[in-house]
Amino acid sequence: MTRPRKLLFATGNEHKVEEVRAILGPDWVVEARPTDAEETAETFEGNALIKARALCAETGEASVADDSGIEVDGLGKEPGVRSARWTGEADWVPKVLRSLAAVPDAPRTCRYVAAVALVRPDGTEVVVRGTVEGVVAPAPRGDAGFGYDPIMIPDDGDGRTFGEMSEDEKHAISHRARAFRAILPHLA
Ligand code: IMP
Repeated sequence: MTRPRKLLFATGNEHKVEEVRAILGPDWVVEARPTDAEETAETFEGNALIKARALCAETGEASVADDSGIEVDGLGKEPGVRSARWTGEADWVPKVLRSLAAVPDAPRTCRYVAAVALVRPDGTEVVVRGTVEGVVAPAPRGDAGFGYDPIMIPDDGDGRTFGEMSEDEKHAISHRARAFRAILPHLA
């Protein structure tokens, strides 16, 4: 039997850690470390790199970070990279619905985006992106998952929101699962 491999993951978000553990399965031990690196980039890739570089510099070990969010087309792709901080957590979902209601004929199409960066002590860097297209539901449904899941209906699903899906159903199609699966070959 081979020993599980360690993935040093720059995050303080327990939801993300749980999801990444479930996505990667028993072959990996996910060690989460919060960083105080400021997310100052305007792209998901840029912010993922900032966090992975900070953890790699701190630990001297290969480090992974993700940056993710929801882009709503009717809101000019907002909140995008600001999904965690454009308003208080309890207002994330209400603000999307309120803002869309204020724009006549606003398209409700949206996507989840996750960029995952790997930074090694020798300076090599890899960044990948996973996305899942969808539409914003008229009202929240389901309490599974986290964040915007109760209003995100993925195109690759059966009409339910991510908030109405099991973990396995979400991980079969999610932006984060797609991005982490894409980074795996680079960790070998
Ligand atoms: P960050 O990557 O730490 O900057 O935060 C990303 C933010 O985007 C989260 O705090 C959520 O608000 C949102 N988000 C990212 N991924 C998901 C997801 O899988 N479900 C729901 N919301 C998400």
